Amino acid sequence: MFSIFKKSAAPDAKASAPQDPGAPITTVTVTVNGRTVTAEVDPRMLLSQFLRDSLQLTGTHVGCDTSQCGACVVHLDGRAVKSCTTLTLACDGGSVTTIEGLSQDGTLHPMQEAFRNNHGLQCGFCTPGMIMSAVDIVNRKGNTLDEATVRAELEGNICRCTGYHNIVAAVREGAANMTGVKQAAE
Ligand code: FES
Ligand code: FES
Repeated sequence: MFSIFKKSAAPDAKASAPQDPGAPITTVTVTVNGRTVTAEVDPRMLLSQFLRDSLQLTGTHVGCDTSQCGACVVHLDGRAVKSCTTLTLACDGGSVTTIEGLSQDGTLHPMQEAFRNNHGLQCGFCTPGMIMSAVDIVNRKGNTLDEATVRAELEGNICRCTGYHNIVAAVREGAANMTGVKQAAE
C-alpha cells in the first residue's frame, strides 16, 4: 500500500534544492505542513519539484506535467493548486499543505478515513491529489455535494483505475465526516 495516509518525516528547516549550475538563485521561505523552510532555489523550480526533490515529500505525485491529471494537487494558503504548474517562488511567504500534513497526531483526516472506508482507490497513484482536491471542495462548497457536483468538481483529477464510483462515494462521506452532516442517499 502506498504511504499516502502516513505522515512522513518533517522536512529540514533549511533545504537545498538541486541546482542547474549557472542558473540564477533566489531564496524562498515557505511554511510546509506547519514547518518553516528557507531554501535557495532556481526561480524556475516547480513546487512539485521542491516538495519531492528538495523536501522528500513524495506523497505529492507527478502524473503528467501538463496540468491535466491532478496527482500533484496540494494546498497553497488553504486553496488547492496543481504543484506541477506552480512556481516555488510564487509560494514565498505562503503556507503549503501536502498529503503528508493532512493527518494530525497520527489521526487520519476525515477525508482520508472516508477514502479508506469506501476503498476509493486501487493503485493509489491519483489518491493524494484526489484527497487534497476533495478537502478543498468541501472547504469551498460545504456539505452540499450531490454525486453530480462531486463529479464536476473532480474534473481536474484523473483516475486510471477505479471508474470513480468509490471515489465519489468517499468524497461524499468525507464531506459528511468533515461537516458532521450526513449526505442524503441518491
Ligand atoms: S502532475 Fe500536475 S496535473 Fe498532472
Ligand atoms: S487508483 Fe490508480 S490512478 Fe486512481
